[in-house]
Amino acid sequence: MKLITKKLISIIGILIILTTNFYFWKSDYSAILAYSPKKFTKEFQNEIYGHNFDYIHNPGLKICAGNQSHLMVIAFVCSSPKNFYQRKLIRQTWAQKSLFGKYLRVVFLLADPQNKTIDEEVKKEYEQYSDIVQENFIDSYRNLSLKTIMGFRWVTHFCPKAKYVLKIDDDVVVNTKSVIKYLCKREESKKNSNDAIIGKFIRNPKPKRTKKSKFYVSFEEYDKNYFYPYCQGLSYLATNGLAAQLFNVSKYKKPFIFEDVYVGMLAHMIGAKFESINPKIITKLPAKMNKKTIETNFFILARSNKMFLTIWNYFYQKK
Ligand SMILES: *[C@@H]1O[C@H](CO)[C@@H](O)[C@H](O)[C@H]1NC(C)=O
Ligand SMILES: *[C@@H]1O[C@H](CO)[C@@H](O)[C@H](O)[C@H]1NC(C)=O
Ligand SMILES: *[C@@H]1O[C@H](CO)[C@@H](O)[C@H](O)[C@H]1NC(C)=O
Ligand SMILES: *[C@@H]1O[C@H](CO)[C@@H](O)[C@H](O)[C@H]1NC(C)=O
Repeated sequence: MKLITKKLISIIGILIILTTNFYFWKSDYSAILAYSPKKFTKEFQNEIYGHNFDYIHNPGLKICAGNQSHLMVIAFVCSSPKNFYQRKLIRQTWAQKSLFGKYLRVVFLLADPQNKTIDEEVKKEYEQYSDIVQENFIDSYRNLSLKTIMGFRWVTHFCPKAKYVLKIDDDVVVNTKSVIKYLCKREESKKNSNDAIIGKFIRNPKPKRTKKSKFYVSFEEYDKNYFYPYCQGLSYLATNGLAAQLFNVSKYKKPFIFEDVYVGMLAHMIGAKFESINPKIITKLPAKMNKKTIETNFFILARSNKMFLTIWNYFYQKK
């Protein structure tokens, strides 16, 4: 009798260990990696971080309406609600519909500023331009990953025909013509038309552990001593099919303070490839602006509105 109960207890014990291990295994990162994306979405029904925020404003299919046979890029500009002037500048420069509308469409992504005055101004702006998408999560620096997920979600639903997705911040100037030319070429050469994230590639990123650093990350927030490779967040492109996959997989990965590092983690989960266009992105302008170095670049970070216009004039000289 005693022996049987002992045996029973040990069998039950083993069963408990096996099942809990199974669940640990199920949530284990390396195990997840072994799955192809399709299997992955079937196997893991728990959408732990499902992005289920509601739209405050959404122009929906209006942005990518009309003839899309040449539509190369849908750009989502991550913008702070209060940055009315930056958005105006962008509409007048690199996103100009009359110049680039055939190849490029642009939306501005905003979240909730928690400020009635700004809310009302944004509403007016939305009514005038219909190019603003706003979701109801709190707009803050630490929520920038949510904004990128929002972008991938929006593009997947409302602009699936654009060949590429551009994630960009509202203080970056785009050399629209060169970017479109580059992507057209990429499309033509079959060899390169595979899915990829394209941008300033960071190959061996590491979390900053000195508290003084602007990019300080505590061990509580992130305990590994490396990040997965990623493309720098100011401006990167992704093939549209990849945007859908990145959105899908984001349901299983907790948002992280740095959106570009976060996208690197998602990319790793689906085995996405990166393509480097390193010399084509400038984050710090040389003291002397040189026409040649500026013209040959795709994206340049502007540190002031005045500089934004100066850079644009280098990119686009009206003759
Ligand atoms: C779209 O535009 C292309 C060329 O710009 C043209 O060949 C095509 O017929 C147009 N499609 C529609 C449905 O208007
Ligand atoms: C709301 O925004 C306006 C304009 O930026 C600012 O003047 C005001 O102080 C803000 N109100 C609150 C409660 O933060
Ligand atoms: C991010 O947004 C969510 C949803 O609105 C909010 O609960 C959270 O406090 C925000 N986080 C930060 C750091 O602002
Ligand atoms: C994303 O997930 C949805 C629902 O699970 C699925 O129908 C769709 O095919 C997935 N898309 C991609 C690109 O993985």
